[in-house]
Amino acid sequence: MNEPTIKSTNTLWHQATINRLMREEKNRHKSVVLWFTGLSGSGKSTLAHAVEEKLFNNNVNTFVLDGDNVRHGLCGDLGFKDEDRKENIRRVGEVAKLMLEAGLITLTAFISPYKEDRNRVRNLMPHGEFFEIYCYCPLEVCEQRDVKGLYKKARQGEIKHFTGISSEYEIPVNPELIVDTNVLTLEESVTKVIDFLSFRNVVTNI
Ligand code: ADX
Repeated sequence: MNEPTIKSTNTLWHQATINRLMREEKNRHKSVVLWFTGLSGSGKSTLAHAVEEKLFNNNVNTFVLDGDNVRHGLCGDLGFKDEDRKENIRRVGEVAKLMLEAGLITLTAFISPYKEDRNRVRNLMPHGEFFEIYCYCPLEVCEQRDVKGLYKKARQGEIKHFTGISSEYEIPVNPELIVDTNVLTLEESVTKVIDFLSFRNVVTNI
């Protein structure tokens, strides 16, 4: 698939006087992107929000970009065909990059089923500031939970291109972290992510 054509010609980059390092110093923490990926119902959003809560309560500046929410606005014009998912992830990647500059720890919760799309976002960020977190939960379990009733509809053919049923999910090859959401409790999963952030010196004393 081709990259989008840049149509914004005759524009000049304005260098900000307040830069990211200054924001990080003021915040007393680094800014990074935590990219949660996994099947629908694998617990991405729940975990991202729970990690955010823990960080927020420890004076960390955060924001969650959530698939279902973003698709109500910024990406409301996109469906679930491959090109649409690609564009969805591209836009979210660009927003996450802005948030990185703004000094935030940004947590994203998108199925982001394609390796190529995830890697494109990874390559947008400076090295070591994008962490791919794979929320692993077997399809059978996600389908059995079927919190939103979408797997049932997908099986009945009412929803086309449904990830795991009629559309592929490419398992992350080298994610920075795997969280087995089927086995761990939510609290244990949060601890695993926070420990990882401490280990990578993104945050301290949490
Ligand atoms: S992504 O593939 O482009 O990353 P995204 O995370 O934004 O997907 O949206 C996924 C959410 O949209 C799911 O959690 C589910 O609630 C809903 N959804 C609706 N149709 C589909 C579909 N065909 N495949 C997957 N999720 C769908």
